[in-house]
Order: sequence, then C-alpha cells, then structure tokens
Amino acid sequence: MKALIIGASGQVGGALSALCVRRRIEVYGTSRHGQGFLSLDLEDPASVVSAFERAAPGVVFLCSAMTNVDACERSAALAGRVNAEGPALVAEQCRKAGSKLVYFSTEYVFDGAAGPYGEDDLVNPVSVYGRTKLEGERAALALDGALAVRTTVVYSHNPASRNFIMQLISNHRSGARMRVPSDQFSTPTYAPELAAAVLDLAEKGASGVYNVVGPDWLSRYEFALKACAAFGFAPDFIEPRLTAELGQAAARPLKAGLKTDKLLKTLGRALPPAEESLRKIAAVMKQYE
Ligand SMILES: NC(=O)c1ccc[n+]([C@@H]2O[C@H](COP(=O)([O-])OP(=O)(O)OC[C@H]3O[C@@H](n4cnc5c(N)ncnc54)[C@H](OP(=O)(O)O)[C@@H]3O)[C@@H](O)[C@H]2O)c1
Repeated sequence: MKALIIGASGQVGGALSALCVRRRIEVYGTSRHGQGFLSLDLEDPASVVSAFERAAPGVVFLCSAMTNVDACERSAALAGRVNAEGPALVAEQCRKAGSKLVYFSTEYVFDGAAGPYGEDDLVNPVSVYGRTKLEGERAALALDGALAVRTTVVYSHNPASRNFIMQLISNHRSGARMRVPSDQFSTPTYAPELAAAVLDLAEKGASGVYNVVGPDWLSRYEFALKACAAFGFAPDFIEPRLTAELGQAAARPLKAGLKTDKLLKTLGRALPPAEESLRKIAAVMKQYE
C-alpha cells in the first residue's frame, strides 16, 4: 500500500505518518507550505493534481481541513472552498488514479440534541464548520469504496498543535486561567489510537461511515479534570463555564459524542480509555522536563 496523507503537517496527519513509517508503509505527506512535504493547497486544483502525479497513491488519507470552528463561522466562503470543494477535488483525483479515499469527518455533523450518535443517526449541523465538513463527507462518499471516519476532540502531545490538551498544558505552564465548557459533552480521542484504528480499517477495506472515538463520554470540564489528575496538575486554573457564557462565534453541539459499536464489530477492539492515553502523555511530558 502506497499512502498519500493530505495534511501530514497537522495533528492527525502527523500521527498517521508516524504510524505508516513504523509499519513500513511507503508514505507521502502534504502541507500548503512544502517544508519537507509535497506542496498541496485544497484551494489550488493544480497542486492536488501534481501531488497525485508524484505519489501515485493506492490510498489517500484526507486529513486537511479548515479546523478552527469559529474562523469557519467568520469566513464561510473560505471554509466552503477548503472543507467542501477541496474533498470533491481529491475524490475526483482518487477516481482517476483508482485510489482508495479515507476522509476525516466530525461529530459536528450533528446538532448535539441527543448524543452520543451512531453512524446512521440523522445529521443536522449547527455551524459552518459542521455544514462544510458534511458536504466534504458526502463528496468523499460519492466515490466507490470510500471510508469516512467521524471523530472528535482529538488530542495528543504535539507541541505544534493547539489541541485541547496542549492548550491545557500551556495554560498550566504560564499560570493563565482556562475557561472550559461544562455543558459540551463528547468522546475525546487520542490521535495515535485514532491513527492505528483508521489504518486498520483501511487495510481491512472498510467503507462507508465509521465512528472512531475514545470510549469516555465526558464534558470538556470533566476531561480537563481527568487530564489534570493524570499530569499531577492542581486543577484550580480550570474554570467551568456554560457555552453560552463563552461568546464563541459558532454554535456547538452540546450533547454530542459518537458510539463505536460498528468499530468494535469490525476491528474487535475499542480505543483505550482516556485515563490510559493521558498517562502516556504524562510519560512523554516527563521526558521533556
Ligand atoms: N482535531 C479535532 O478535534 C477534530 C475533531 C473532529 C474531526 N477532525 C477532523 O480531522 C482532520 C484532522 O484534524 P487535525 O486535528 O489534524 O487538524 P489540524 O492539526 O488543524 O491540521 C489541519 C491540517 O489541514 C491543513 N490545511 C489547512 N488548510 C489547508 C488547505 N487550504 N489546503 C491543504 N491543507 C490545508 C494543515 O496543513 P498546512 O497548514 O501545513 O497547510 C494541517 O495539516 C480534519 O479533517 C478535521 O476536520 C478533527
């Protein structure tokens, strides 16, 4: 299997790249900025074509997206080009090259009225990010054999990433207070475990929609407390707040999160509990001290 990881510079793409290398899978990665990656901008169709020519991939992991939910709300046209039109361009190149497409989608396709959600539950996004990612998911799934992986609250120890856990570590270090929603419920997902499950699904030839998330259904506040316990941080810098108090540009699905029965049936395993993954991060942090 020769893999092309679109968005290898990001959190999920980086975890997938590292895993491909460990599993001795030939892999090409992209970023808009080159810097050791193939250059690919989802807004530039010619760059998509040339990355496919260079990599001639058997499988394409589309990790790239405009992932800042509030920025998407403020720049809806840009979000549409990157998150909806971009995946359509990639799917078209996959069709021409005969490549399998694995698309990364999100729980934000749901409205958060009645989570956690199964793969077949009715979608109803409440933000520009959610709507554009759903369009991207549909464009990907229009391709025969495509796999769309829905995930959420992805975290890892990655100094280049602004994921929730890295923000928490940075706030603790600087002594800054951190306002955390106590009414947004979800299923946090450790990036290396997400990467391993998705690679296993792709190798098994899975297609259609799959939820790939951690097993704990937690509010963001509860997750922050779990992380503090694992890292030995006093949690007094964490301030629970209602989403309505945070003044965020985009609406959030509140009672969200995803169910993983289908993943369990296909792979015979679920992702490990958050405590275990957070302990791994604590061990990595010790090496940095
Ligand atoms: N993180 C989460 O909690 C979460 C939750 C649900 C779903 N997801 C989905 O999972 C995927 C990966 O997320 P992540 O956490 O790895 O995000 P991330 O760390 O923010 O990385 C985003 C990636 O997208 C690339 N990118 C941004 N704009 C681009 C453009 N116009 N053309 C090409 N590449 C572009 C960035 O690369 P450069 O800046 O180097 O070009 C980067 O590699 C995304 O599709 C996201 O929607 C993430």
